[in-house]
Amino acid sequence: MATNVLVIGSGGREHALCAGLVSSPTIDSLFCSPGNAGTASIATNVKLDIGNHKSVIEYCKNHEISLVVVGPEAPLCDGISDSLMAAGINSFGPESYLANLEGSKAFAKEIMIKAGVPTARVERLEEGSDINKFLDEFSANPWVIKRDVLAGGKGVVVTTDRQEAIDFIQFSIDSDGYVLLESFLSGEEASMLVVMDKNSFLCLPASQDHKRVGNGDTGPNTGGMGAYCPAPVVTEDVFSKVESRIVKPMHDFFSTLDVPYRGVLYVGLMIDENGDPSVVEFNVRFGDPECQVTIPMIKADLVELFTAACEDKLGSVKVDFHTQSAICVVLASEGYPSSPIKGRPVEGIITGFGTPGLNSSWINPAGLSSGENGELIASGGRVLTCTAMMDNLDLARDSAYQKLSELSLEGAHYRTDIGHRAF
Ligand code: AMP
Ligand code: GLY
Repeated sequence: MATNVLVIGSGGREHALCAGLVSSPTIDSLFCSPGNAGTASIATNVKLDIGNHKSVIEYCKNHEISLVVVGPEAPLCDGISDSLMAAGINSFGPESYLANLEGSKAFAKEIMIKAGVPTARVERLEEGSDINKFLDEFSANPWVIKRDVLAGGKGVVVTTDRQEAIDFIQFSIDSDGYVLLESFLSGEEASMLVVMDKNSFLCLPASQDHKRVGNGDTGPNTGGMGAYCPAPVVTEDVFSKVESRIVKPMHDFFSTLDVPYRGVLYVGLMIDENGDPSVVEFNVRFGDPECQVTIPMIKADLVELFTAACEDKLGSVKVDFHTQSAICVVLASEGYPSSPIKGRPVEGIITGFGTPGLNSSWINPAGLSSGENGELIASGGRVLTCTAMMDNLDLARDSAYQKLSELSLEGAHYRTDIGHRAF
C-alpha cells in the first residue's frame, strides 16, 4: 500500500531523510515542513505550526499522511509523537518522556545508571554547593561542566582553566538553578545510530562527526562540520561491546516502560585506548551531519523500516548495509557558529543537487533557500553538505571535496580535514 509521508525539519539531515524516503517503492507523496531549497526539489514543502499539534494532525488527516518522521529534538521534547500516535498516525521519534534523554542531561544520567551502562561520573551542583571542593575532587583534568538545558551545543564547557570552570558553574546555577560536573572521558568519539521499537533494535553502521569548527579539531564547537561512515575506530569488537554493554541494556530498560522507545537513538560514544566504550550523550534523533552519511548506507525501504519501528515490527524488516564508505563536508557561512552572515548567493549548483547512491557525489542542502528568481541563497549557518559514497573513504573524500570546489559563497568556510582520524 502506498504511503504519504511528512518529514519535520529544515536541515541537511531532513534533506537526507527526504532523499532516502522518496526512493522508497512504497511512497506516494512526500511532504516536508518547513524544508529547504533541497527538500523542495524532491518533496512538497509546507509551512506548518509544528507546536500546534491539533493543526499538524489535521494536515496529516487531510493529506492522508500515515507516517511522520521527526528530524529535530525540540518537537519530540514538546510531545509531537505523543499527539500523533494518540491520533493513530505513526510518528518516528520517541514520545516526550523518553525524548527527555536529550532534553535533560540529568534525566539521561538517571536512566543510564538504572540501565547500568558505562558513562562519566556526575555531580549536581547548586546554590550553596562547595564548588572548589568538587573541582578538587574531579581534579582529573580537564573539568567537564554541563548545563541541563537544550543549548544548541553551547551548554558544555570542557576546560583546564579553574576560573573559567568556576565562572561557568556560577553562571549556570544562576540561570538554571543547578549544573552538572562530570568526570572527563578520554579517547576517541563516535556516533552510533540505533533504530528501536518495543521488541527489537537495529544498530546502523557507526559514524564520526567533527564538532569543532577548525582543522585539527580546533576552535569553538559547532553542530558538526562533516562526518563519515563507517568509522574505523568502531571495530567489530568495539561494535559488539557497544551493542552488549550499552544498546541492549538501554533497550531492555525501555521495554519495561509503558511507552517504549520508537525511533532512532543517537548514542554519542567515547572509546578509550582499550576499545571500551562509554556514553557521552544520548540524542533522540538522527545526528546532523551523521544522517547524511548513514542513510545512504542503508539498503532497505525506509518507509517500511520507519513504519515497522512505529508498529513494533522492526524485527520483521530485512536490512542490509553497503560495505563502502560515505563522507560529507559542511559548507558554512562566514561567521558560523557565533554569528553567521546570511543572505548571500550560493553559486555553482548547475545541474541540481544530485541523487545519493554508490559511486556518486551529491549535495544535501541545509540553510539554503530559493530567492525570487530561483537563485540559491545562504539562509543559515550550515548551508549544505557535499556528500559522496565510494568504494573506499579516500575516493569518497576526494569526490566530496571535488563537489565542494565547484561551489562558491562569499566568506564561506569548511574544514579541509574531514575523515582525518581514519587516514
Ligand atoms: P554533549 O553535549 O554532552 O555531547 O557534550 C559536547 C561535547 O563535549 C562532546 O561531544 C564531547 O566532545 C565533550 N564531552 C562531553 N562530555 C564529556 C566527558 N565526560 N568527557 C570528555 N568529553 C566530553
Ligand atoms: N552532529 C551532532 C548532533 O547531531 O548532535
